[in-house]
Amino acid sequence: MPRNNLTAAPVPAAICLEQVDKWYGEFGQQVHALDVTDLEVLQGEFVVLLGPSGCGKTTLLRMIGGLIAPSHGRLRVMERDLWKGKTRQSDAVADLGVVFQDANLFPWLTVGQNITLPLELRGAPKDDCLARVRELASLVGIAGFEQRWPRELSGGMRQRAAIARALSYDPDILLMDEPFGALDAMTRDAMNIELQTLWIKTAKTIVLVTHSISEAVFLADRVILLSPRPGRIDTVVNIPFARPRLLDTQTTTEFQSIVRDLRHRLDEIS
Ligand SMILES: Nc1ncnc2c1ncn2[C@@H]1O[C@H](COP(=O)(O)OP(=O)(O)OP(=O)(O)O)[C@@H](O)[C@H]1O
Ligand SMILES: [Mg+2]
Repeated sequence: MPRNNLTAAPVPAAICLEQVDKWYGEFGQQVHALDVTDLEVLQGEFVVLLGPSGCGKTTLLRMIGGLIAPSHGRLRVMERDLWKGKTRQSDAVADLGVVFQDANLFPWLTVGQNITLPLELRGAPKDDCLARVRELASLVGIAGFEQRWPRELSGGMRQRAAIARALSYDPDILLMDEPFGALDAMTRDAMNIELQTLWIKTAKTIVLVTHSISEAVFLADRVILLSPRPGRIDTVVNIPFARPRLLDTQTTTEFQSIVRDLRHRLDEIS
């Protein structure tokens, strides 16, 4: 649960969806991809989305990220409407940083230039960009690699650079679509630990999509399991483990029992 739940004041919502759905395609050949009646992600919360392939996880993340419009319903980010009809409200998008499965770094820019690209596009002075690159490279653990080309980095380091880029303009919310899906198991464990540290340090709201149930349970305050298409909220599980969680948490009976229950439910609905 959100870390400031000891205070009396309720934690405000970072993301709020009401009666949101998404249809793709032309009339007569439409695909009903997503149907979310009610979803709130609180500020500072770490929410992980799980669900069968094709159930609409990426669709949901892209809608929250302002990349595609919902067909119906209301979607608010930091209490501002993200869409008015089909028109995206740019002031609401500014609060979001997005990381995809492939780091998507531009090969013709150095790692540092990739990280500060969003800042430069926003007209930030060069000196501010340089200072920010140093700060972010160190935060995500790639200090010293700012002048290298993306091809000179390992897969894990490229993902770190992509996370740094998403954080460059200090968004309140980080959206991550299978950010570690292409990494080997050991690098993925290390990235999970570091993502948790980064989340604790920065107090961002994070919504992350994964296919790994144990990654979901390890990282999340709350795991949300979506049903097959159209993706509807099937199960919500609050994860009780204290922070910071260690990899050893995964060997506890309680952890394994939550993973097992989620796996059974996923098998049932798939
Ligand atoms: N641009 C598009 N045009 C038409 N249909 C689409 C489009 N994007 C997604 N879909 C369909 O919407 C459904 C949900 O897709 P989405 O990519 O959101 O699923 P997902 O849960 O992210 O799947 P995966 O786990 O495989 O990444 C799928 O049936 C997909 O075929
Ligand atoms: Mg997807």
